[in-house]
Amino acid sequence: MSEMIRDGEQSHVWPLPDEGCASNDLVAFTQRLDALAARRGLLHTTLADTSGVQISLLQSGPMVQGPALLIAAGFHGEEPAGPWGLLRFLDTAPDDWFARARLSFLPLVNRTGFAAGRRFNAWGENPNRGFTANPRGETPSREGQLLLAHAARLQQLGRDGVLSCHEDVLQQHGYVYSFEHAAQPGPFSLTLRDSNARFFTLLADGEVDGCPVQDGLVFNHRDSSFEAWMLQNGAARTACTETPGLQPIAPRIAANAAMMAAFVEHALTPV
Ligand code: NI
Repeated sequence: MSEMIRDGEQSHVWPLPDEGCASNDLVAFTQRLDALAARRGLLHTTLADTSGVQISLLQSGPMVQGPALLIAAGFHGEEPAGPWGLLRFLDTAPDDWFARARLSFLPLVNRTGFAAGRRFNAWGENPNRGFTANPRGETPSREGQLLLAHAARLQQLGRDGVLSCHEDVLQQHGYVYSFEHAAQPGPFSLTLRDSNARFFTLLADGEVDGCPVQDGLVFNHRDSSFEAWMLQNGAARTACTETPGLQPIAPRIAANAAMMAAFVEHALTPV
Protein backbone atom coordinates (compact mmCIF):
# COMPACT_ATOMS: atom_id res chain seq x y z
CA MET A 1 0.00 0.00 0.00
CA SER A 2 2.81 2.44 0.75
CA GLU A 3 5.06 3.46 -2.09
CA MET A 4 8.32 4.77 -0.67
CA ILE A 5 10.46 1.83 -1.76
CA ARG A 6 8.33 0.59 -4.64
CA ASP A 7 8.99 0.96 -8.33
CA GLY A 8 5.83 2.29 -9.92
CA GLU A 9 6.97 1.65 -13.47
CA GLN A 10 8.33 -1.91 -13.37
CA SER A 11 6.12 -4.45 -15.14
CA HIS A 12 4.97 -7.63 -13.38
CA VAL A 13 2.99 -10.15 -15.44
CA TRP A 14 2.14 -13.77 -14.58
CA PRO A 15 0.68 -16.52 -16.76
CA LEU A 16 -2.69 -17.66 -15.38
CA PRO A 17 -3.02 -21.40 -16.13
CA ASP A 18 -6.56 -21.69 -14.73
CA GLU A 19 -7.79 -18.65 -16.67
CA GLY A 20 -5.83 -19.47 -19.85
CA CYS A 21 -4.41 -15.97 -20.33
CA ALA A 22 -1.86 -13.59 -18.88
CA SER A 23 -2.55 -11.60 -15.71
CA ASN A 24 -2.62 -8.32 -17.65
CA ASP A 25 -5.10 -9.48 -20.34
CA LEU A 26 -7.58 -6.61 -20.16
CA VAL A 27 -9.76 -7.96 -22.99
CA ALA A 28 -10.17 -11.40 -21.39
CA PHE A 29 -10.76 -9.81 -18.00
CA THR A 30 -13.44 -7.44 -19.30
CA GLN A 31 -15.28 -10.14 -21.25
CA ARG A 32 -15.46 -12.40 -18.20
CA LEU A 33 -16.46 -9.56 -15.92
CA ASP A 34 -19.32 -8.57 -18.24
CA ALA A 35 -20.58 -12.17 -18.41
CA LEU A 36 -20.45 -12.63 -14.63
CA ALA A 37 -22.13 -9.28 -13.96
CA ALA A 38 -24.98 -10.30 -16.27
CA ARG A 39 -25.29 -13.72 -14.65
CA ARG A 40 -25.48 -12.13 -11.18
CA GLY A 41 -27.98 -9.49 -12.25
CA LEU A 42 -25.66 -6.63 -11.34
CA LEU A 43 -26.19 -3.17 -12.80
CA HIS A 44 -23.11 -2.05 -14.70
CA THR A 45 -22.27 1.61 -15.00
CA THR A 46 -19.05 3.29 -16.06
CA LEU A 47 -17.62 6.24 -14.18
CA ALA A 48 -15.71 8.38 -16.65
CA ASP A 49 -13.96 11.71 -16.90
CA THR A 50 -13.23 13.93 -19.86
CA SER A 51 -9.64 12.66 -20.25
CA GLY A 52 -10.70 9.09 -21.01
CA VAL A 53 -10.29 7.49 -17.59
CA GLN A 54 -12.98 4.85 -17.01
CA ILE A 55 -13.86 2.84 -13.92
CA SER A 56 -16.56 0.16 -14.01
CA LEU A 57 -19.01 0.07 -11.12
CA LEU A 58 -21.24 -2.96 -10.59
CA GLN A 59 -24.06 -2.86 -8.10
CA SER A 60 -27.11 -4.76 -6.92
CA GLY A 61 -30.51 -3.92 -8.32
CA PRO A 62 -32.70 -1.40 -6.44
CA MET A 63 -34.90 -4.08 -4.85
CA VAL A 64 -32.10 -5.76 -2.92
CA GLN A 65 -31.99 -5.07 0.83
CA GLY A 66 -29.37 -5.86 3.44
CA PRO A 67 -25.95 -4.52 4.34
CA ALA A 68 -24.31 -2.19 1.82
CA LEU A 69 -20.87 -3.59 1.02
CA LEU A 70 -18.32 -2.30 -1.48
CA ILE A 71 -15.45 -4.41 -2.82
CA ALA A 72 -12.69 -2.73 -4.84
CA ALA A 73 -9.67 -4.17 -6.63
CA GLY A 74 -6.94 -3.23 -9.07
CA PHE A 75 -5.77 0.08 -7.66
CA HIS A 76 -2.20 -1.03 -8.44
CA GLY A 77 -1.50 -2.64 -11.80
CA GLU A 78 1.16 -5.06 -10.55
CA GLU A 79 -1.34 -6.60 -8.09
CA PRO A 80 -3.56 -8.64 -10.43
CA ALA A 81 -4.77 -11.31 -7.99
CA GLY A 82 -7.34 -8.82 -6.66
CA PRO A 83 -9.23 -8.32 -9.93
CA TRP A 84 -8.93 -11.97 -10.94
CA GLY A 85 -9.96 -13.01 -7.42
CA LEU A 86 -13.02 -10.80 -7.81
CA LEU A 87 -14.02 -12.75 -10.93
CA ARG A 88 -13.53 -15.96 -8.96
CA PHE A 89 -15.75 -14.59 -6.18
CA LEU A 90 -18.47 -13.55 -8.64
CA ASP A 91 -18.35 -17.02 -10.18
CA THR A 92 -18.42 -19.05 -6.97
CA ALA A 93 -20.20 -17.08 -4.21
CA PRO A 94 -23.53 -18.50 -2.97
CA ASP A 95 -26.52 -17.17 -4.94
CA ASP A 96 -28.38 -16.04 -1.83
CA TRP A 97 -25.64 -13.53 -0.90
CA PHE A 98 -26.63 -11.48 -3.93
CA ALA A 99 -30.20 -11.33 -2.58
CA ARG A 100 -29.31 -10.71 1.07
CA ALA A 101 -26.68 -7.97 0.68
CA ARG A 102 -26.39 -4.82 -1.41
CA LEU A 103 -23.12 -5.72 -3.08
CA SER A 104 -21.15 -3.26 -5.17
CA PHE A 105 -17.86 -3.71 -6.96
CA LEU A 106 -15.11 -1.54 -8.40
CA PRO A 107 -13.43 -4.50 -10.13
CA LEU A 108 -10.52 -2.71 -11.74
CA VAL A 109 -9.74 0.84 -10.68
CA ASN A 110 -6.44 1.28 -12.57
CA ARG A 111 -7.07 -0.08 -16.07
CA THR A 112 -3.96 1.34 -17.69
CA GLY A 113 -1.72 0.02 -14.92
CA PHE A 114 -3.35 -3.43 -15.10
CA ALA A 115 -2.83 -3.69 -18.87
CA ALA A 116 0.84 -2.76 -18.45
CA GLY A 117 1.39 -4.84 -15.29
CA ARG A 118 2.62 -1.64 -13.66
CA ARG A 119 1.80 -0.23 -10.26
CA PHE A 120 1.10 3.30 -11.43
CA ASN A 121 -1.32 4.45 -14.11
CA ALA A 122 -0.34 5.56 -17.62
CA TRP A 123 0.44 9.03 -16.28
CA GLY A 124 2.81 7.79 -13.58
CA GLU A 125 0.34 8.51 -10.77
CA ASN A 126 -0.38 6.32 -7.75
CA PRO A 127 -4.12 5.59 -7.73
CA ASN A 128 -4.26 4.81 -4.00
CA ARG A 129 -2.97 8.10 -2.65
CA GLY A 130 -4.27 11.60 -2.13
CA PHE A 131 -7.85 10.77 -1.14
CA THR A 132 -7.54 12.73 2.09
CA ALA A 133 -5.71 15.87 3.09
CA ASN A 134 -2.28 14.71 4.19
CA PRO A 135 0.98 16.17 5.49
CA ARG A 136 2.95 14.70 2.59
CA GLY A 137 0.99 16.72 0.07
CA GLU A 138 -0.04 13.61 -1.87
CA THR A 139 -2.60 14.47 -4.52
CA PRO A 140 -5.18 12.17 -6.14
CA SER A 141 -4.55 10.40 -9.43
CA ARG A 142 -6.99 10.70 -12.32
CA GLU A 143 -8.76 7.59 -10.99
CA GLY A 144 -8.75 9.07 -7.51
CA GLN A 145 -10.31 12.31 -8.71
CA LEU A 146 -13.02 10.31 -10.45
CA LEU A 147 -13.80 8.33 -7.29
CA LEU A 148 -13.73 11.50 -5.19
CA ALA A 149 -16.23 13.06 -7.60
CA HIS A 150 -18.60 10.18 -6.74
CA ALA A 151 -18.04 10.37 -2.98
CA ALA A 152 -21.72 10.51 -2.02
CA ARG A 153 -22.60 7.48 -4.12
CA LEU A 154 -19.64 5.46 -2.86
CA GLN A 155 -20.53 6.39 0.70
CA GLN A 156 -23.97 4.83 0.24
CA LEU A 157 -22.58 1.74 -1.47
CA GLY A 158 -19.96 1.08 1.21
CA ARG A 159 -21.84 2.22 4.29
CA ASP A 160 -21.58 -1.13 6.10
CA GLY A 161 -18.12 -2.08 4.91
CA VAL A 162 -15.44 -1.52 2.29
CA LEU A 163 -12.86 -4.06 1.18
CA SER A 164 -10.00 -3.08 -1.12
CA CYS A 165 -7.87 -5.96 -2.39
CA HIS A 166 -4.15 -5.34 -2.90
CA GLU A 167 -0.97 -7.36 -3.19
CA ASP A 168 2.59 -6.72 -2.07
CA VAL A 169 5.15 -7.73 -4.71
CA LEU A 170 7.99 -7.40 -2.18
CA GLN A 171 6.58 -9.95 0.28
CA GLN A 172 6.46 -13.71 0.86
CA HIS A 173 3.82 -13.25 3.57
CA GLY A 174 0.28 -11.96 3.86
CA TYR A 175 -1.12 -9.12 5.97
CA VAL A 176 -4.08 -6.74 6.23
CA TYR A 177 -4.54 -3.01 6.80
CA SER A 178 -7.81 -2.54 8.65
CA PHE A 179 -9.77 0.45 9.88
CA GLU A 180 -12.50 0.44 12.50
CA HIS A 181 -14.16 3.05 14.70
CA ALA A 182 -12.57 1.32 17.68
CA ALA A 183 -9.34 1.24 19.66
CA GLN A 184 -8.60 -2.41 18.94
CA PRO A 185 -9.12 -4.69 15.94
CA GLY A 186 -12.54 -6.36 16.15
CA PRO A 187 -14.00 -9.47 14.50
CA PHE A 188 -14.07 -7.74 11.09
CA SER A 189 -10.29 -7.27 11.07
CA LEU A 190 -9.55 -10.66 12.59
CA THR A 191 -11.80 -12.49 10.13
CA LEU A 192 -10.01 -11.01 7.12
CA ARG A 193 -6.59 -11.62 8.67
CA ASP A 194 -7.47 -15.25 9.44
CA SER A 195 -8.81 -15.77 5.92
CA ASN A 196 -5.49 -14.53 4.48
CA ALA A 197 -3.62 -16.82 6.89
CA ARG A 198 -5.38 -19.90 5.50
CA PHE A 199 -3.31 -19.34 2.34
CA PHE A 200 -0.12 -17.63 3.49
CA THR A 201 2.02 -17.34 6.58
CA LEU A 202 1.41 -13.91 8.09
CA LEU A 203 4.05 -11.22 8.10
CA ALA A 204 6.08 -11.21 11.32
CA ASP A 205 5.56 -8.38 13.82
CA GLY A 206 7.58 -5.29 13.01
CA GLU A 207 7.17 -2.72 10.27
CA VAL A 208 5.94 -2.79 6.71
CA ASP A 209 6.37 0.34 4.60
CA GLY A 210 6.93 2.30 7.78
CA CYS A 211 3.70 1.06 9.42
CA PRO A 212 3.63 -1.04 12.58
CA VAL A 213 2.33 -4.55 11.88
CA GLN A 214 1.21 -6.78 14.73
CA ASP A 215 -0.38 -10.20 14.44
CA GLY A 216 -0.65 -9.73 10.69
CA LEU A 217 -2.55 -6.42 11.02
CA VAL A 218 -1.76 -2.76 10.46
CA PHE A 219 -4.61 -1.17 12.40
CA ASN A 220 -6.10 2.31 11.93
CA HIS A 221 -3.10 3.67 10.07
CA ARG A 222 -4.50 6.95 8.73
CA ASP A 223 -2.81 7.50 5.39
CA SER A 224 -4.34 9.14 2.28
CA SER A 225 -5.52 5.81 0.79
CA PHE A 226 -8.98 4.94 -0.54
CA GLU A 227 -9.69 2.73 2.47
CA ALA A 228 -8.67 5.43 4.97
CA TRP A 229 -10.84 7.94 3.10
CA MET A 230 -13.86 5.65 2.97
CA LEU A 231 -13.79 5.24 6.75
CA GLN A 232 -13.62 9.02 7.07
CA ASN A 233 -16.38 9.16 4.43
CA GLY A 234 -18.76 7.29 6.74
CA ALA A 235 -18.12 3.58 6.21
CA ALA A 236 -18.56 1.44 9.32
CA ARG A 237 -15.30 -0.42 8.67
CA THR A 238 -12.77 -0.73 5.87
CA ALA A 239 -9.79 -2.89 5.00
CA CYS A 240 -6.98 -3.28 2.49
CA THR A 241 -5.86 -6.88 2.18
CA GLU A 242 -2.36 -7.77 0.97
CA THR A 243 -1.44 -11.09 -0.62
CA PRO A 244 2.26 -11.82 -1.19
CA GLY A 245 3.40 -11.19 -4.74
CA LEU A 246 6.46 -13.40 -4.28
CA GLN A 247 4.18 -16.45 -3.91
CA PRO A 248 2.56 -18.31 -6.86
CA ILE A 249 -0.34 -16.54 -8.51
CA ALA A 250 -2.93 -19.34 -8.17
CA PRO A 251 -3.19 -19.30 -4.35
CA ARG A 252 -3.09 -15.50 -4.44
CA ILE A 253 -6.21 -15.45 -6.61
CA ALA A 254 -7.85 -18.07 -4.39
CA ALA A 255 -6.98 -16.05 -1.28
CA ASN A 256 -8.48 -12.87 -2.71
CA ALA A 257 -11.73 -14.66 -3.56
CA ALA A 258 -11.78 -16.21 -0.08
CA MET A 259 -11.24 -12.87 1.66
CA MET A 260 -14.09 -11.32 -0.35
CA ALA A 261 -16.28 -14.24 0.73
CA ALA A 262 -15.21 -13.81 4.35
CA PHE A 263 -15.99 -10.08 4.13
CA VAL A 264 -19.54 -10.68 2.87
CA GLU A 265 -20.22 -13.63 5.16
CA HIS A 266 -19.08 -11.63 8.18
CA ALA A 267 -21.52 -8.83 7.33
CA LEU A 268 -24.36 -11.33 6.88
CA THR A 269 -23.72 -13.17 10.14
CA PRO A 270 -25.86 -11.98 13.07
CA VAL A 271 -23.77 -10.88 16.05
NI1 NI B 1 -1.28 -1.99 -3.55
